Amino acid sequence: MEKNIVVLPGDGIGPEVLAEAVKILHAVERRFGCSFALREALIGGAAYEAEGDPLPEETLAACRAADAVLLGAVGGPRWAEAPVDKRPEAGLLRIRKELGLYANLRPAVVFPELASLSCLRPDLVEQGLDLLVVRELSGDVYFGLPAGEERRDGARQAFNNMIYDEREIRRIAIVAFEAAMKRKRRLCSVDKANILAVSRLWREVVREVGADYPGVELSHMYVDNCAMQMVIRPAQFDVLLTANLFGDILSDEAAGVAGSLGLLPSASLSGTAQSGGIGLYEPVHGSAPDITGQDKANPLAAILSTAMMLDMTFGLKDAAVAVEQAVRRTLAEGFRTADIAAGQPGTRLASCREMGDLVAARLV
Ligand code: IPM
Ligand code: MG
Repeated sequence: MEKNIVVLPGDGIGPEVLAEAVKILHAVERRFGCSFALREALIGGAAYEAEGDPLPEETLAACRAADAVLLGAVGGPRWAEAPVDKRPEAGLLRIRKELGLYANLRPAVVFPELASLSCLRPDLVEQGLDLLVVRELSGDVYFGLPAGEERRDGARQAFNNMIYDEREIRRIAIVAFEAAMKRKRRLCSVDKANILAVSRLWREVVREVGADYPGVELSHMYVDNCAMQMVIRPAQFDVLLTANLFGDILSDEAAGVAGSLGLLPSASLSGTAQSGGIGLYEPVHGSAPDITGQDKANPLAAILSTAMMLDMTFGLKDAAVAVEQAVRRTLAEGFRTADIAAGQPGTRLASCREMGDLVAARLV
């Protein structure tokens, strides 16, 4: 099977971290005897500057024809004044919508070697932390219509529409239950059902889906309580199922709890690979304009996103595990990029490129 991957470096540190991810893909080709057809395309501010559009038609067409997409990062202060629909973030939202990427999987793991990076008290993370946020990605206030701003009764008024239909809830719930089946079989669905009609439907549909998964322990939690539980007792969570907006917020919180945004990968899927779905894989971190072009960025989130791609889109479980192990070995040997080196005695500082080389060398 030809494995077609579109590489979208994007803005800021995106191109730097993806160059290292591509290095890892070549190491995987050598070690596992597979081959990937890579094709690069534009997205975000880079695309806006070259083509006047943060998601050019050509990019979209290339992605539609691919099996998987690897994305670096989009955005930066340079485009803060661009028209709203031309901002880099608009390109990201459109690619999610156009490719039908409704399931966003964001694992947050505290590697034992890096437990001290967590902003939590050591006794809270020494039990370890290994949770997965399953975030709905193509609905909610992000896309609900009507949305906009108008003048009413002499004042400016702005509005967004929080809206889900039961099919959207059901399909993301199934993804979360399936993920829980492969993990510790605990699923916590997050909502605001004490206030929001949308959340009440959410809870009802999640319960219905849960009837098909008697082996999974299902609980429900209000989002405000969940935000607190995440910092006072994070180890209680296995899989968290959330709507788009709550998941955006909670996945950043989980990243803070885990310690470094520079380590967290993500997958956005339009369905399973078996059903012909496409997967877009990207680090959770942003474009980090403050360190762009300095060879300082942490490529591990991009590399771990590549591991997710190998597993979830291409079914190359062995290769995925080998990449993860190579990352852990590199960390265990004390190598750190600047973002995770602070306050860690005995560490060896590595640049973005060196980190990629170190991981690649541990894959042969
Ligand atoms: C994320 C980001 C995006 C989102 C932005 C950049 C549009 O915060 O992927 O979490 O809100 O989904
Ligand atoms: Mg976010």
